[in-house]
Amino acid sequence: MKVLDAEFVQGFIRMADDGWKQGWHERNGGNLSYRIKEQEAESVKENFEPKEWQPIGTSVPKLAREYFLVTGSGKYFRNVSIKPEDSVCIIELDDKGENYRIAWGLVNGGRPTSELPSHLMNHEVKMEASGGKHRVIYHAHTTNTIALTFVLPLEDKVFTRELWEMATECPVVFPDGIGVVPWMVPGGRDIAVATSELMKKYDAAIWAHHGMFASGEDFDLTFGLMHTVEKSAEILVKMLSMRPDKLQTITPQNFRDLAVDFHVTLPEEFLYEK
Ligand code: 13P
Ligand code: ZN
Repeated sequence: MKVLDAEFVQGFIRMADDGWKQGWHERNGGNLSYRIKEQEAESVKENFEPKEWQPIGTSVPKLAREYFLVTGSGKYFRNVSIKPEDSVCIIELDDKGENYRIAWGLVNGGRPTSELPSHLMNHEVKMEASGGKHRVIYHAHTTNTIALTFVLPLEDKVFTRELWEMATECPVVFPDGIGVVPWMVPGGRDIAVATSELMKKYDAAIWAHHGMFASGEDFDLTFGLMHTVEKSAEILVKMLSMRPDKLQTITPQNFRDLAVDFHVTLPEEFLYEK
């Protein structure tokens, strides 16, 4: 089968396009990766032409020999659906999880996203935590969430609680909460370590003054999580623009009642009295 005809590739392209349409991917902003299933890799392997091995910049031994579909560094989400062979690539990891090589794509040259260390370290953590179910890691420059990192304390418990309060569906969509990474230089191992540490506990992490990372089982769930958090952030930005305080809100007891009916566990650490 041709790579572009595969369902997982079509799903990846649609998700990149959906993110572009949301306005989260100015220029080359954001990146996306998918951990390819064995039978999916098998179905398109006839097209692979492996290039040179390159260092990942970190070590992900539990992902050894796995294949990933990844956006290219400097490539525009705008172009993923228009010229996918130029914008994305399939990479293979070596048996130590320390090097990668491009097996398909990036036909005009280039390399996988500069955030590959963060993507792969998050994949490793989420694969373990989900019993192998999580396959998608998504980084976007979500406008309203970024704006909030200038006015809210950069604490997990503050972001979780404030975002939960802005839309009743939020605690059901991300019941474990959301983590916050302070401002760090992007593109390297340090920010990857900090993010993957938070991903042990959460499915989403905010990068202060930069954007967000989300993890999920498939394209719909991962995009849906990013979309839900960002929508909630937009409501909070609107609310704070009208007046600095709330006349009424969802209370800690309201959250506890919701948790019972919706069969979710909401950690008490987020239900503090203000
Ligand atoms: P890449 O073009 O290397 O993916 O970088 C974009 C980005 O958002 C960095 O954080
Ligand atoms: Zn970024």
